[in-house]
Amino acid sequence: MRVLGIETSCDETAVAFVETNPWSTDILAQVVSSQVALHRPYGGVVPEMATREHLRNLPLLVPQVMKEVNLPLDAIEAVAATEGPGLASSLLIGHSYARALAIALSKPMVGVNHLEGHLYSPFIANRRAVEFPFVGLIASGGHTLLVHALGWDRYVKLGSTVDDAAGEAFDKVAKLVGLPYPGGPEIEKMAAKGNPEAFGLPRSFPERDNLNFSFSGLKTAVRFFFEKSQQMQADQQWTYDLCASFQKAVVDVLVRKSIQAVAQSRVERLAVSGGVLCNGFLRGELEFACYEAGIDLIVAEPAFCTDNAGMIAGAAAEKLAAGVKPRVGDDINPNLDLFAPELEGDFARSMTTALKLKNRQVKKGLKQDDTISPGEVEVW
Ligand code: KG4
Ligand code: ZN
Repeated sequence: MRVLGIETSCDETAVAFVETNPWSTDILAQVVSSQVALHRPYGGVVPEMATREHLRNLPLLVPQVMKEVNLPLDAIEAVAATEGPGLASSLLIGHSYARALAIALSKPMVGVNHLEGHLYSPFIANRRAVEFPFVGLIASGGHTLLVHALGWDRYVKLGSTVDDAAGEAFDKVAKLVGLPYPGGPEIEKMAAKGNPEAFGLPRSFPERDNLNFSFSGLKTAVRFFFEKSQQMQADQQWTYDLCASFQKAVVDVLVRKSIQAVAQSRVERLAVSGGVLCNGFLRGELEFACYEAGIDLIVAEPAFCTDNAGMIAGAAAEKLAAGVKPRVGDDINPNLDLFAPELEGDFARSMTTALKLKNRQVKKGLKQDDTISPGEVEVW
């Protein structure tokens, strides 16, 4: 199955061509036109400018990809595009272009959920077919989500942020300390020269079994240190230390909650993606924690962590190959949901039973760690 995919949910115009074979889905070509430089002076994405860029870019990028794969347009067997969630005007450009192309070629048009693309992206880079079930962590500028992926279109939400997304926290803290947008890579560079233990910044771990995230308290604590210490701001080392301490606080929470989610879901695999996963420190800490806990960690390659069309085309191709009825793809939905409400009841009940058993085990005097490890789950 050969699929052309288009992703325009925010500020990247991306096009990819994929081909499935019995063992894997191969990205034969992929281009991403980044608008970072365009939006940088505004400190964030300006929707109207993003829309105009998509409109300008797509008619150039699609022929570029087809030239790279050296195939005629009618070699395309399906056209996929991001249907949502995202910026309405940006989604509309990519989706309309894909629809028009599909109609002109008389081929199916497949709408893909952007978050499903992110969940799928670690598998592309590792040239593995998707292996359900797994726990997915998505940490990007717009989302921080822990998902129990049971199968295509069968996703259960385990936790999400109650305020800022992890990437958004990086962007806001970067802005505070005078670094350009997007802040994540800038903070990472500064943090590499700093001491992560220099500042005692808060980590938000609500109740023990709560897998939600919150980064606003951390962001406020950074602001507090920054504003109270104006004379220190001229000292570069002080700023390096603040960035390193902030990065460590975000990473600690992401790692610990992900390990806990895997344990609670009783799965073996953790698949992680989203722009924040480009962070080398986070990748290293996840690798270490998963190695210790015996979890099979699948990390998206940096090129597939940030928004890309390979994840959209690949998810569409694998779903079609697996015989999953594709979404009709007839309209965008900026608030498109990922979760299957009919799964929530049964799943929540099975989780409650597991936790009751776990609590009984703790009452019997067995050791209780802050984090539940998969080893412990075996005794449930
Ligand atoms: O997935 P993505 O490209 O777009 C969204 O769907 O949001 O993620 C962009 C986010 C930005 O907030 C950016 O600051 C963050 O990912 N990011 C990073 C790093 N590279 C990108 N955060 C931390 N460390 C990085 N190296
Ligand atoms: Zn994204």
